[in-house]
Amino acid sequence: MTGTENPTTTTTTTTTDPDTAALESDLREGFFADPPTLPPRWFYDEKGSLLFDQITRVAEYYPTRAEAEILRARAGDIVGAASTVVELGAGTCEKTRVLLDVLAAGRSDARFVPLDISTEMLFETARALEQEYPGLRIDPVIGDITALEGPLPGEPGGRLVLFLGGTVGNFSESQRDGFFRMLRGIMAPGDQLAVGFDLVKSPDRLVAAYDDAAGVTAEFNLNMLDVIARTVDCTGLDRRDFRHEAVWNAEESRIEMWLRAVREVRIDFPTLGRGRTLAAGEGIRTEIARKFEPHALIDELAGHGFGGQAVWTDAAGDFGLALVVVD
Ligand SMILES: C[S@@+](CC[C@H](N)C(=O)[O-])C[C@H]1O[C@@H](n2cnc3c(N)ncnc32)[C@H](O)[C@@H]1O
Repeated sequence: MTGTENPTTTTTTTTTDPDTAALESDLREGFFADPPTLPPRWFYDEKGSLLFDQITRVAEYYPTRAEAEILRARAGDIVGAASTVVELGAGTCEKTRVLLDVLAAGRSDARFVPLDISTEMLFETARALEQEYPGLRIDPVIGDITALEGPLPGEPGGRLVLFLGGTVGNFSESQRDGFFRMLRGIMAPGDQLAVGFDLVKSPDRLVAAYDDAAGVTAEFNLNMLDVIARTVDCTGLDRRDFRHEAVWNAEESRIEMWLRAVREVRIDFPTLGRGRTLAAGEGIRTEIARKFEPHALIDELAGHGFGGQAVWTDAAGDFGLALVVVD
Protein backbone atom coordinates (compact mmCIF):
# COMPACT_ATOMS: atom_id res chain seq x y z
CA MET A 1 0.00 0.00 0.00
CA THR A 2 1.43 3.40 -0.88
CA GLY A 3 0.81 6.69 0.89
CA THR A 4 3.41 5.95 3.53
CA GLU A 5 5.86 8.46 4.88
CA ASN A 6 9.06 8.25 6.82
CA PRO A 7 8.16 7.77 10.51
CA THR A 8 10.58 10.53 11.49
CA THR A 9 8.47 13.21 9.72
CA THR A 10 8.59 16.53 11.57
CA THR A 11 6.70 19.76 11.05
CA THR A 12 8.73 22.66 9.66
CA THR A 13 7.80 25.71 7.67
CA THR A 14 9.61 24.80 4.46
CA THR A 15 7.43 23.95 1.51
CA THR A 16 9.31 20.68 1.04
CA ASP A 17 7.72 19.32 4.22
CA PRO A 18 4.85 17.04 3.14
CA ASP A 19 2.56 18.28 5.91
CA THR A 20 3.21 21.90 4.94
CA ALA A 21 2.55 21.22 1.28
CA ALA A 22 -0.64 19.28 2.11
CA LEU A 23 -1.91 21.98 4.46
CA GLU A 24 -1.15 24.72 1.94
CA SER A 25 -3.18 22.80 -0.61
CA ASP A 26 -6.08 22.37 1.87
CA LEU A 27 -5.93 26.09 2.74
CA ARG A 28 -6.03 27.05 -0.94
CA GLU A 29 -9.04 24.82 -1.45
CA GLY A 30 -11.01 25.48 1.73
CA PHE A 31 -9.94 28.56 3.67
CA PHE A 32 -10.85 31.01 0.91
CA ALA A 33 -14.18 29.33 0.18
CA ASP A 34 -17.53 30.46 1.51
CA PRO A 35 -17.78 29.43 4.30
CA PRO A 36 -14.11 28.78 5.04
CA THR A 37 -13.48 25.10 5.79
CA LEU A 38 -10.56 22.93 6.82
CA PRO A 39 -10.39 19.14 6.77
CA PRO A 40 -10.42 17.33 10.15
CA ARG A 41 -7.05 15.64 9.56
CA TRP A 42 -5.43 18.85 10.91
CA PHE A 43 -6.84 18.12 14.38
CA TYR A 44 -4.52 15.18 14.76
CA ASP A 45 -1.04 16.24 15.78
CA GLU A 46 0.24 14.44 18.88
CA LYS A 47 -1.70 16.75 21.22
CA GLY A 48 -4.87 16.48 19.12
CA SER A 49 -4.70 12.69 19.14
CA LEU A 50 -4.38 12.71 22.93
CA LEU A 51 -7.31 15.11 23.16
CA PHE A 52 -9.44 12.86 20.96
CA ASP A 53 -8.59 9.98 23.27
CA GLN A 54 -9.85 12.11 26.19
CA ILE A 55 -13.02 12.96 24.26
CA THR A 56 -13.84 9.25 24.00
CA ARG A 57 -13.99 9.17 27.83
CA VAL A 58 -16.14 12.24 28.52
CA ALA A 59 -19.65 11.49 29.78
CA GLU A 60 -21.41 13.19 26.85
CA TYR A 61 -19.49 11.33 24.11
CA TYR A 62 -21.54 8.13 23.76
CA PRO A 63 -20.25 6.87 20.33
CA THR A 64 -17.11 5.14 21.61
CA ARG A 65 -18.92 3.25 24.38
CA ALA A 66 -21.78 2.30 22.06
CA GLU A 67 -19.48 1.04 19.30
CA ALA A 68 -17.37 -0.89 21.83
CA GLU A 69 -20.57 -2.63 22.98
CA ILE A 70 -21.28 -3.77 19.41
CA LEU A 71 -17.71 -4.94 18.86
CA ARG A 72 -17.73 -6.96 22.09
CA ALA A 73 -21.02 -8.61 21.16
CA ARG A 74 -20.08 -9.37 17.51
CA ALA A 75 -16.31 -9.87 17.54
CA GLY A 76 -16.49 -13.45 16.21
CA ASP A 77 -18.90 -12.52 13.39
CA ILE A 78 -16.81 -9.51 12.39
CA VAL A 79 -13.39 -11.18 12.30
CA GLY A 80 -14.75 -14.38 10.73
CA ALA A 81 -12.02 -16.14 8.78
CA ALA A 82 -9.94 -13.01 8.09
CA SER A 83 -6.16 -13.44 8.15
CA THR A 84 -5.30 -9.73 7.79
CA VAL A 85 -7.12 -6.88 9.52
CA VAL A 86 -6.46 -3.37 8.17
CA GLU A 87 -7.78 -0.51 10.30
CA LEU A 88 -8.19 2.90 8.65
CA GLY A 89 -7.80 5.91 10.98
CA ALA A 90 -6.85 3.47 13.74
CA GLY A 91 -6.00 5.93 16.56
CA THR A 92 -5.29 4.09 19.82
CA CYS A 93 -7.04 0.86 18.66
CA GLU A 94 -8.57 0.63 22.10
CA LYS A 95 -11.90 -0.79 20.88
CA THR A 96 -10.15 -2.89 18.24
CA ARG A 97 -8.54 -5.10 20.88
CA VAL A 98 -11.63 -7.30 21.25
CA LEU A 99 -11.27 -8.08 17.52
CA LEU A 100 -7.52 -8.64 17.82
CA ASP A 101 -8.17 -11.14 20.63
CA VAL A 102 -10.24 -13.20 18.18
CA LEU A 103 -7.78 -12.71 15.32
CA ALA A 104 -4.73 -13.72 17.38
CA ALA A 105 -6.49 -16.74 18.90
CA GLY A 106 -7.70 -18.00 15.53
CA ARG A 107 -4.57 -18.41 13.43
CA SER A 108 -0.79 -18.28 13.56
CA ASP A 109 -0.32 -16.23 10.34
CA ALA A 110 -2.59 -13.37 11.45
CA ARG A 111 -1.56 -9.80 10.74
CA PHE A 112 -2.84 -6.40 11.88
CA VAL A 113 -2.21 -3.22 9.87
CA PRO A 114 -3.22 -0.03 11.71
CA LEU A 115 -3.14 2.97 9.34
CA ASP A 116 -3.26 6.56 10.51
CA ILE A 117 -1.98 10.01 9.65
CA SER A 118 -1.00 10.80 13.24
CA THR A 119 2.56 9.46 13.37
CA GLU A 120 3.38 9.50 17.08
CA MET A 121 0.04 8.01 18.09
CA LEU A 122 0.34 5.29 15.44
CA PHE A 123 3.79 4.11 16.47
CA GLU A 124 2.99 4.28 20.16
CA THR A 125 -0.11 2.18 19.52
CA ALA A 126 1.85 -0.32 17.42
CA ARG A 127 4.50 -0.68 20.14
CA ALA A 128 1.81 -1.37 22.76
CA LEU A 129 0.08 -3.92 20.51
CA GLU A 130 3.35 -5.77 19.82
CA GLN A 131 3.75 -6.27 23.56
CA GLU A 132 0.13 -7.28 24.11
CA TYR A 133 -0.07 -9.63 21.11
CA PRO A 134 3.34 -11.31 20.72
CA GLY A 135 1.92 -13.85 18.25
CA LEU A 136 0.38 -11.24 15.96
CA ARG A 137 2.30 -9.49 13.19
CA ILE A 138 1.74 -5.72 13.58
CA ASP A 139 2.56 -3.59 10.53
CA PRO A 140 1.72 0.10 11.16
CA VAL A 141 1.33 2.30 8.06
CA ILE A 142 1.37 6.10 7.99
CA GLY A 143 -1.09 7.06 5.32
CA ASP A 144 -3.96 9.28 4.26
CA ILE A 145 -7.26 7.41 4.16
CA THR A 146 -8.55 9.73 1.46
CA ALA A 147 -5.76 8.77 -0.96
CA LEU A 148 -5.10 5.04 -0.55
CA GLU A 149 -3.60 3.09 -3.39
CA GLY A 150 -3.65 -0.67 -3.63
CA PRO A 151 -2.90 -3.37 -3.24
CA LEU A 152 -3.95 -3.65 0.39
CA PRO A 153 -1.71 -5.84 2.55
CA GLY A 154 -2.79 -9.46 2.95
CA GLU A 155 -4.22 -12.21 0.79
CA PRO A 156 -7.04 -11.11 -1.54
CA GLY A 157 -10.30 -12.41 -0.08
CA GLY A 158 -8.78 -12.83 3.40
CA ARG A 159 -8.83 -9.21 4.51
CA LEU A 160 -11.07 -7.37 6.93
CA VAL A 161 -10.97 -3.57 6.59
CA LEU A 162 -12.15 -1.66 9.67
CA PHE A 163 -13.34 1.93 9.58
CA LEU A 164 -14.55 2.68 13.09
CA GLY A 165 -15.43 5.62 15.31
CA GLY A 166 -18.01 7.14 13.00
CA THR A 167 -15.15 8.71 11.01
CA VAL A 168 -17.14 7.94 7.83
CA GLY A 169 -19.47 10.76 8.95
CA ASN A 170 -16.62 13.27 8.55
CA PHE A 171 -16.87 13.02 4.75
CA SER A 172 -19.22 15.10 2.64
CA GLU A 173 -21.68 13.10 0.52
CA SER A 174 -19.39 13.27 -2.52
CA GLN A 175 -16.24 12.50 -0.49
CA ARG A 176 -17.98 9.44 0.99
CA ASP A 177 -18.99 8.29 -2.46
CA GLY A 178 -15.39 8.67 -3.68
CA PHE A 179 -14.07 6.92 -0.56
CA PHE A 180 -16.28 3.84 -1.02
CA ARG A 181 -15.39 3.74 -4.72
CA MET A 182 -11.67 3.93 -3.84
CA LEU A 183 -12.06 1.14 -1.26
CA ARG A 184 -13.91 -1.07 -3.70
CA GLY A 185 -11.09 -0.52 -6.19
CA ILE A 186 -8.37 -1.72 -3.79
CA MET A 187 -10.35 -4.57 -2.16
CA ALA A 188 -10.83 -8.02 -3.70
CA PRO A 189 -13.90 -10.28 -3.84
CA GLY A 190 -14.37 -11.92 -0.45
CA ASP A 191 -12.65 -9.08 1.48
CA GLN A 192 -14.86 -7.69 4.24
CA LEU A 193 -15.47 -4.13 5.36
CA ALA A 194 -16.83 -3.06 8.77
CA VAL A 195 -17.96 0.57 9.08
CA GLY A 196 -19.05 2.19 12.33
CA PHE A 197 -21.56 5.03 11.95
CA ASP A 198 -23.45 7.30 14.30
CA LEU A 199 -27.25 7.34 14.23
CA VAL A 200 -29.67 10.27 14.13
CA LYS A 201 -30.95 11.14 17.60
CA SER A 202 -32.05 14.13 19.66
CA PRO A 203 -30.14 17.30 18.72
CA ASP A 204 -29.53 18.02 22.41
CA ARG A 205 -27.58 14.80 22.89
CA LEU A 206 -25.74 15.26 19.62
CA VAL A 207 -24.65 18.80 20.38
CA ALA A 208 -23.59 17.86 23.93
CA ALA A 209 -21.42 15.05 22.53
CA TYR A 210 -19.48 17.64 20.52
CA ASP A 211 -19.48 20.37 23.17
CA ASP A 212 -18.77 18.63 26.47
CA ALA A 213 -19.03 20.55 29.72
CA ALA A 214 -15.36 20.00 30.58
CA GLY A 215 -14.31 21.77 27.35
CA VAL A 216 -12.20 18.90 25.97
CA THR A 217 -13.80 19.11 22.51
CA ALA A 218 -13.39 22.90 22.53
CA GLU A 219 -9.67 22.45 23.18
CA PHE A 220 -9.49 19.76 20.46
CA ASN A 221 -11.07 22.16 17.97
CA LEU A 222 -8.91 25.17 18.95
CA ASN A 223 -5.79 22.99 18.76
CA MET A 224 -6.23 22.95 14.98
CA LEU A 225 -5.28 26.63 14.92
CA ASP A 226 -2.02 25.83 16.72
CA VAL A 227 -1.31 23.06 14.19
CA ILE A 228 -1.88 25.48 11.31
CA ALA A 229 0.22 28.26 12.87
CA ARG A 230 3.08 25.80 13.36
CA THR A 231 2.85 24.06 9.99
CA VAL A 232 2.55 26.96 7.53
CA ASP A 233 3.94 30.47 7.38
CA CYS A 234 1.16 32.78 8.60
CA THR A 235 0.46 36.01 10.48
CA GLY A 236 -2.57 37.05 12.52
CA LEU A 237 -3.66 33.54 13.51
CA ASP A 238 -4.26 33.43 17.27
CA ARG A 239 -6.48 30.90 19.04
CA ARG A 240 -7.59 33.60 21.52
CA ASP A 241 -9.54 35.23 18.68
CA PHE A 242 -11.79 32.16 18.26
CA ARG A 243 -14.30 30.11 20.20
CA HIS A 244 -15.52 26.55 19.67
CA GLU A 245 -19.06 25.96 18.48
CA ALA A 246 -21.00 22.74 17.75
CA VAL A 247 -24.32 23.04 15.89
CA TRP A 248 -26.88 20.55 14.55
CA ASN A 249 -27.63 21.07 10.86
CA ALA A 250 -30.97 19.25 10.48
CA GLU A 251 -31.15 19.74 6.72
CA GLU A 252 -27.82 17.97 6.17
CA SER A 253 -28.33 15.57 9.12
CA ARG A 254 -25.00 16.46 10.62
CA ILE A 255 -23.20 18.06 13.51
CA GLU A 256 -20.87 20.82 12.43
CA MET A 257 -17.92 22.07 14.43
CA TRP A 258 -16.93 25.66 13.88
CA LEU A 259 -14.23 28.02 15.08
CA ARG A 260 -16.03 31.31 15.37
CA ALA A 261 -14.13 34.63 15.38
CA VAL A 262 -14.87 36.64 18.53
CA ARG A 263 -13.56 39.84 16.87
CA GLU A 264 -12.53 40.87 13.37
CA VAL A 265 -9.46 38.87 12.42
CA ARG A 266 -7.03 39.26 9.53
CA ILE A 267 -4.99 36.15 8.68
CA ASP A 268 -2.28 36.16 6.00
CA PHE A 269 -0.40 33.27 4.44
CA PRO A 270 2.70 34.77 2.75
CA THR A 271 3.69 31.54 0.96
CA LEU A 272 0.22 31.40 -0.59
CA GLY A 273 0.31 35.11 -1.38
CA ARG A 274 -3.19 35.35 0.10
CA GLY A 275 -5.02 36.42 3.22
CA ARG A 276 -8.55 36.69 4.49
CA THR A 277 -10.42 38.93 6.91
CA LEU A 278 -13.02 37.21 9.07
CA ALA A 279 -15.67 39.50 10.53
CA ALA A 280 -16.59 39.14 14.21
CA GLY A 281 -18.99 36.18 14.39
CA GLU A 282 -17.78 34.63 11.11
CA GLY A 283 -16.71 31.00 11.39
CA ILE A 284 -14.34 28.40 9.94
CA ARG A 285 -15.97 24.96 9.64
CA THR A 286 -13.51 22.36 10.88
CA GLU A 287 -15.60 19.19 10.97
CA ILE A 288 -18.86 17.72 9.82
CA ALA A 289 -20.17 14.58 11.54
CA ARG A 290 -22.98 13.09 9.49
CA LYS A 291 -25.60 11.06 11.37
CA PHE A 292 -27.34 8.23 9.53
CA GLU A 293 -30.57 6.27 9.56
CA PRO A 294 -29.80 2.61 10.39
CA HIS A 295 -29.97 1.22 6.83
CA ALA A 296 -28.81 4.20 4.80
CA LEU A 297 -25.13 3.27 4.67
CA ILE A 298 -25.70 -0.36 3.81
CA ASP A 299 -27.85 0.66 0.85
CA GLU A 300 -25.12 3.02 -0.26
CA LEU A 301 -22.47 0.30 0.10
CA ALA A 302 -24.61 -2.10 -1.95
CA GLY A 303 -24.49 0.45 -4.76
CA HIS A 304 -20.69 0.23 -4.63
CA GLY A 305 -20.52 -3.55 -4.97
CA PHE A 306 -20.49 -4.52 -1.29
CA GLY A 307 -23.08 -7.17 -0.35
CA GLY A 308 -23.86 -9.95 2.16
CA GLN A 309 -24.58 -7.37 4.73
CA ALA A 310 -25.32 -7.18 8.44
CA VAL A 311 -26.17 -4.06 10.43
CA TRP A 312 -25.97 -4.08 14.22
CA THR A 313 -26.68 -1.37 16.75
CA ASP A 314 -25.94 -1.14 20.48
CA ALA A 315 -28.84 -1.93 22.82
CA ALA A 316 -29.79 1.74 23.18
CA GLY A 317 -29.85 2.21 19.38
CA ASP A 318 -27.30 5.04 19.48
CA PHE A 319 -24.66 3.75 17.07
CA GLY A 320 -24.46 1.30 14.16
CA LEU A 321 -21.95 -1.05 12.60
CA ALA A 322 -22.29 -2.31 9.03
CA LEU A 323 -20.43 -5.45 7.93
CA VAL A 324 -20.27 -6.05 4.19
CA VAL A 325 -18.29 -8.18 1.78
CA VAL A 326 -16.97 -7.39 -1.69
CA ASP A 327 -19.17 -9.24 -4.18
C1 LIG B 1 -12.43 10.18 15.08
S1 LIG B 1 -10.83 9.47 15.29
C2 LIG B 1 -11.27 7.74 15.40
C3 LIG B 1 -10.15 6.90 16.00
C4 LIG B 1 -10.51 5.42 16.18
N1 LIG B 1 -10.74 4.77 14.89
C5 LIG B 1 -11.74 5.26 17.03
O1 LIG B 1 -12.71 4.67 16.54
O2 LIG B 1 -11.72 5.72 18.18
C6 LIG B 1 -10.19 9.62 13.66
C7 LIG B 1 -8.82 8.98 13.44
O3 LIG B 1 -8.52 9.07 12.04
C8 LIG B 1 -7.24 9.65 11.88
N2 LIG B 1 -7.32 10.44 10.65
C9 LIG B 1 -8.00 11.61 10.45
N3 LIG B 1 -7.88 12.00 9.17
C10 LIG B 1 -7.10 11.05 8.56
C11 LIG B 1 -6.63 10.89 7.23
N4 LIG B 1 -6.94 11.77 6.28
N5 LIG B 1 -5.88 9.80 6.96
C12 LIG B 1 -5.55 8.90 7.92
N6 LIG B 1 -5.98 9.00 9.20
C13 LIG B 1 -6.74 10.07 9.51
C14 LIG B 1 -6.97 10.45 13.11
O4 LIG B 1 -5.58 10.60 13.37
C15 LIG B 1 -7.68 9.62 14.18
O5 LIG B 1 -6.84 8.64 14.73
